[in-house]
Amino acid sequence: MTDLQIRNAVVTGAASGIGAAIATQLAEAGAAVALVARRQDRLDDLAGKLGPRTFGVGLDVTSQDSVDAGVARIHERLGTVDLVVNAAGVMLAAPVADGRLDDWTRMIDTNLTGVLRLVQAFTPDLIAAAAAGRTADLVNISSIGAHVVFPGYAVYGATKAALTHLSASLRADLSPYDVRVTNLEPGLTDTELATHLDSSGQDLIASMNEQIGALHAEDIADVVTFAVSRRRELNLRQIIALPTRQA
Ligand SMILES: NC(=O)c1ccc[n+]([C@@H]2O[C@H](COP(=O)([O-])OP(=O)(O)OC[C@H]3O[C@@H](n4cnc5c(N)ncnc54)[C@H](OP(=O)(O)O)[C@@H]3O)[C@@H](O)[C@H]2O)c1
Repeated sequence: MTDLQIRNAVVTGAASGIGAAIATQLAEAGAAVALVARRQDRLDDLAGKLGPRTFGVGLDVTSQDSVDAGVARIHERLGTVDLVVNAAGVMLAAPVADGRLDDWTRMIDTNLTGVLRLVQAFTPDLIAAAAAGRTADLVNISSIGAHVVFPGYAVYGATKAALTHLSASLRADLSPYDVRVTNLEPGLTDTELATHLDSSGQDLIASMNEQIGALHAEDIADVVTFAVSRRRELNLRQIIALPTRQA
């Protein structure tokens, strides 16, 4: 087992939902955790509850300047980071026929390029941590939408398929350095993700929730905590976590 008390973690998407639940579990297990998202007030509230080894870093993963400034603050506070969880993401219903380029761009910039910005910022840390004998993890929160087609969500699905493929490629690049890469694909999970949809999109998710029974963000956090606390020679590289009734 890897002791989480000695980990220096960064969790994006920590203002709500899955990212907040992962940050909470890691902090409760004793890790130092940088909570990352745009809403600094939410992050500060959560950090206030989790204690002095956690702190909020308000940044926008779609802006390189914002990421650079936030990463500098994280390095100042944590030194070398050995655990990065990319959970920041956005899901918009953008049927291809509607041609909503702004929504497509927002999803690609957040779900794919945003992850790449964090990967670029912290890969040297992960390699250095592993070289020093520490356990080093990169965890990407993709989606079952990487494999299953949801009408109207082509671009969201495409960003997640790309992220799943990126994770596999990164694992090939980083495993020689003893850096683990875990790609986790959740199914329906009860979070704020659907709140960015219009009322018909929200109704659809609500009816899926009713029929299937959504997972809790804490269920996904349990899986991440399990994966990153294995001994460093074991890499759970691809995990699909679905509600039992989600086919
Ligand atoms: N819920 C599901 O059913 C489900 C299923 C499969 C996969 N997922 C994936 O799980 C991840 C977490 O989503 P969630 O379900 O927990 O939804 P959520 O509650 O809406 O969380 C999304 C998080 O991302 C942050 N975020 C969004 N845009 C950002 C940006 N430009 N820069 C920095 N942070 C940003 C948000 O905080 P701010 O608004 O403060 O920035 C928020 O903390 C996403 O990648 C999502 O695609 C969710």
